Amino acid sequence: MKVLLAHRSIRKYQSKSISDELLHELLECGIRSSNTGNMQLYSIIVTRDQKRKELIAPLHFNQQMVHEAPVILTICFDINRFMKWCRINDTKTDFKSLLWLLNGAIDSSILTQNICVAAENMGLGICYLGTTLYNASEISKILCLPNGVIPITAITIGYPEIVPDQTDRLQLSAVVHYEEYCDYSDAEISEIYSSKERLESSISFVKENGKENLAQVYSEVRYKASDNSYFSSKLLKMLIEQGFNFE
Ligand SMILES: Cc1cc2nc3c(=O)[nH]c(=O)nc-3n(C[C@H](O)[C@H](O)[C@H](O)COP(=O)(O)O)c2cc1C
Repeated sequence: MKVLLAHRSIRKYQSKSISDELLHELLECGIRSSNTGNMQLYSIIVTRDQKRKELIAPLHFNQQMVHEAPVILTICFDINRFMKWCRINDTKTDFKSLLWLLNGAIDSSILTQNICVAAENMGLGICYLGTTLYNASEISKILCLPNGVIPITAITIGYPEIVPDQTDRLQLSAVVHYEEYCDYSDAEISEIYSSKERLESSISFVKENGKENLAQVYSEVRYKASDNSYFSSKLLKMLIEQGFNFE
């Protein structure tokens, strides 16, 4: 619990490498996680080679940690391996659906978080790369992913150089509902988000972006609608080209 409660994302790493033994143990912790039907419909691509990091860094919007972290893991939903097993056993699969993409994304996320917690427990730092889904198709090419292997998320891992302050969270009472969902009034919403809005970092974030409030920064700058629909369409196109069927 101490490890979990001390979590912060680490974006600046020492140049110190991670030993093969430790990396192997972290990966073992990852695949020990619960997964749908114990089918392990995932693959993990380990990137340690600097040249390949330089190739994938632009696809992660050149976030500095992608250049600097000793290890990057890209965790993928993988129906390729399972389909091949079915084919050589004279049976067909029908797992290229929304349901299985979600199942695979859940399994991949659980696996990833197991690795993160194991890594943090060993004094390492991690940071997720949400950019993985934004440029999944281009990342697939760099990592030579075949049809049916879809990048879901990625993490950087390394020994922390800078350990930042912890970030805020909404209070537990704001996110937990006992027995039934208790919908929020506008007044309750304002109260729930007020401490986040009052943070100095939020106030300067609003100012720097020339917006009136924090919600506008999130929805009009950071995760604006045009980007959302652009990256969403790109991802959907890739999935459809690979034979996924969402009907
Ligand atoms: C799925 C996912 C994607 C993320 N993508 C990025 C990213 O691309 N770049 C980054 O710096 N942080 C990324 N993060 C880290 C979040 O920004 C961070 O977890 C959040 O701000 C809370 O801060 P903390 O982890 O330090 O508590 C991501 C986190 C998750 C879970």
